[in-house]
Amino acid sequence: MNDNNDPLLVIDSFSGEEVSQNRPTKRDLLDLFSHARSSATPLFIAAPMVRYSKLPYRLLVRALNTQITYTPMMLAREFKNSAQARSSEFSTCRSDRPLIAQFGASNSADLLAAARIVAPYVSGIGINCGCPIRDQTALGIGAALMGRLDTLVDMVSTLKTALGEELLVEVKIRIHNDIEYTKQFVQELAGAGADVVSIHGRRIKDRSGVVPADLDAIRTLRSAIPEHVYLVANGDCFSLDDAYRIAKYTGADGIMAARGLLQNPALFTGAHITPWSAIELYCAYVSAYGGNMKFQHVQLALVEMTFGLLTKQERQLIRQTRNLDQLYEFLNKYYILRRPGQEFFGTLTYSGFRR
Ligand SMILES: Cc1cc2nc3c(=O)[nH]c(=O)nc-3n(C[C@H](O)[C@H](O)[C@H](O)COP(=O)(O)O)c2cc1C
Repeated sequence: MNDNNDPLLVIDSFSGEEVSQNRPTKRDLLDLFSHARSSATPLFIAAPMVRYSKLPYRLLVRALNTQITYTPMMLAREFKNSAQARSSEFSTCRSDRPLIAQFGASNSADLLAAARIVAPYVSGIGINCGCPIRDQTALGIGAALMGRLDTLVDMVSTLKTALGEELLVEVKIRIHNDIEYTKQFVQELAGAGADVVSIHGRRIKDRSGVVPADLDAIRTLRSAIPEHVYLVANGDCFSLDDAYRIAKYTGADGIMAARGLLQNPALFTGAHITPWSAIELYCAYVSAYGGNMKFQHVQLALVEMTFGLLTKQERQLIRQTRNLDQLYEFLNKYYILRRPGQEFFGTLTYSGFRR
């Protein structure tokens, strides 16, 4: 059913304010990129992650030195057609900036319609060209676009023409087996008006955790992309040292982390494991802003984030909890789970450890 008459109205669930009243702009992102380049310091970016990069997680990593965040990939066609999809997939608030809304789309019309709806709430639109999941590629979405350059170029130029004054356009790609073709690919995206190209340094068939990210390929592509287009390097960033090393080696303007930041949301502060205070902050953000989240997604996020804080077996037990109260009670057995207003809540140096 098409119920697209309902525009997206985002009310801050904490303050009750309509969020678009003070619109974010593309400048918020461009200023960060240009400052990063002039100061030769990479931007710290949280990758889009289905199920995980929801509003509470974005607020958390932002509080911990991440400068740019993404929504999880949202399907443009569903977003355009269904108010129910919009309210379950998207929520934001004024401190959730600058934000890039990432879409999975197979054509320019769906992408543009979805982008117009979300435009008042974000600084940029990202196009996912990396997702290798067969259900998506069969629909012409995600990594399928790596084989459909003409369609992708049309998507970028359609967005630029219609919304380029207000929104930054980013494309997140993988590498082709043929690096020469990949150079041509990114040059055409730049020619179509992409402001930022993010490169996940793997081929479509390469699995994360099995095949290392190819930093040489990203470095080669840097020299192929026109200077005015910003480059973000993605793949295998698990520490702040990694971020600096990858930026130096590839010449990227920004470093995007997914799995590393999931297991340690404080990665960009230089912390080696999740500080307990980050768990407290996450729980507080879930209470304030997690209204449209499924319990299972909060649970999964906490299984990931407690890597380094709990044993593997203990983390498995988190999966057996059935609701937030049980989950918080479980955590409270091992650590003192403070709430906002309590002494030491969210203090980075506070260990909270009970054992
Ligand atoms: C749980 C999970 C969900 C992901 N969801 C998305 C997504 O929505 N959009 C996207 O472009 N990439 C997605 N990715 C890929 C990551 O953004 C990233 O490109 C990849 O994990 C490599 O980065 P890493 O080595 O830092 O993990 C996802 C990855 C993970 C682990």
